[in-house]
Amino acid sequence: MHIDMKGICKSFSSVPILKNVDFSLTDGEVHALMGENGAGKSTLMKVLTGVYTRDAGEILIDGKPVSFNHPKEAEEAGVVFIYQELNTMNDLTVEENMFMGKEIKKAFGVADRKAMIARARETIERLGVRINPRAVMRSLSVGQQQMVEIAKALLADVKVLIMDEPTAALSPSETKVLFRVIEQLKKDGVSVIYISHRMEEIFELCSRITVLRDGQFIATKNIAETDMTDVVRMMIGRDIGARFPERQAKIGDVLFEVEGLTQKGVFEDISFQVRSGEVLGVAGLMGAGRTEIMQAIFGNPPCEKGRIRIGGREVHIRMPRDAIKYGMGFITEDRKLEGLLLNDSITTNIALNNLGIISEHGILQKAKEKSLVAEAIVKLSIRCSSEKQRCGELSGGNQQKVVFAKWMSTEPRVLILDEPTRGVDVGAKKEIYSIINQLAENGAGDTNHDDQQK
Ligand SMILES: Nc1ncnc2c1ncn2[C@@H]1O[C@H](COP(=O)(O)OP(=O)(O)OP(=O)(O)O)[C@@H](O)[C@H]1O
Ligand SMILES: [Mg+2]
Repeated sequence: MHIDMKGICKSFSSVPILKNVDFSLTDGEVHALMGENGAGKSTLMKVLTGVYTRDAGEILIDGKPVSFNHPKEAEEAGVVFIYQELNTMNDLTVEENMFMGKEIKKAFGVADRKAMIARARETIERLGVRINPRAVMRSLSVGQQQMVEIAKALLADVKVLIMDEPTAALSPSETKVLFRVIEQLKKDGVSVIYISHRMEEIFELCSRITVLRDGQFIATKNIAETDMTDVVRMMIGRDIGARFPERQAKIGDVLFEVEGLTQKGVFEDISFQVRSGEVLGVAGLMGAGRTEIMQAIFGNPPCEKGRIRIGGREVHIRMPRDAIKYGMGFITEDRKLEGLLLNDSITTNIALNNLGIISEHGILQKAKEKSLVAEAIVKLSIRCSSEKQRCGELSGGNQQKVVFAKWMSTEPRVLILDEPTRGVDVGAKKEIYSIINQLAENGAGDTNHDDQQK
């Protein structure tokens, strides 16, 4: 299938988001769509698939003008969008998710479960993965849930598959499986539009790349004709130099120490020390219990056994509030579930974590609040219409920056970071690393657990 998008414009409450964007896709290619957080990648794909209506421009499929009014119409034409945040029904089974809204029926309109399970099994097998169609979605890993979404797309006779940061939550081995599946789809003549902030993946997987910057089309190039430095320059309009900032922190005394932490069946006898100024990396396979250990240290839920010492003094953390009281901070891996109030503004989200700094004698100081939030927006270059914008309206990467901003200003002594740069673009990643370094230079000890490719 051949897609041509020409001169696409889209505004939200009169703020232009897409400005005259061109995009084209040919048969059986894997086409990377790149750009900074908030550049308009997801929005462009939503315009293509009828989630949003465009204000101007045209879309041609195999030379014919089309306008999808609803994602369902796009799906019927073979254009399927797998969203940045997966859209599965966790309490339903794999088969129910795959056939939702398009059940196979027997005579008299009775759902033919047996036929659907067989079709589901067959389709999943085509992907070369093993997932039981009767399994409940909740019991699957994120990688498996994603495979179910792809299988669902295959059922709809997909010709163009759009994947928005599909590997953000995948382990390296799940990523391999996904890449193999994409190769297979390509052989079957399916085209893929691939959005990712992970440079290495783009160069491994894609044949062409289109870059957006601030809602504008910058260029479409053959992968062979570009390299990482060039892509970064197109994305942010300048060189950023090394992808990791230099480090100058002086390592001091042991600041944070855990000993023999145990949670039966989850982790056992975990001990480590972090010195002030130190950034400790915690590595391990997905599912190895890294997140659970860090959550337990933070009191969510507390450990069954073991000791925690801060600055040589033993502390008892029974709930997250205790941890915060001892000067600890936590940046979570799942911004949607734990980190952010999506219906509230950027200001509210940042302010809630910093009431101590922005109030005097229990009274909120509006001016202080304003300057704190303004500073965070500049420091992390959070792209937003104003500090009053609802977090749910921000692009994925900008939501992650707000999560970071919430904790950054509290100047924690010990900060736990669980995949802090998920979905964050190259430029902002570097800013976040710099802030981590700065916090460390000021004497904090970080435990940073991040298995992203950087
Ligand atoms: N429904 C909406 N209402 C208001 N503004 C929106 C809405 N959806 C997106 N935006 C704004 O449009 C801009 C582009 O967002 P989009 O989600 O397309 O970015 P993106 O390139 O996908 O970024 P990321 O890499 O962070 O996912 C952002 O500034 C965002 O705040
Ligand atoms: Mg996006």
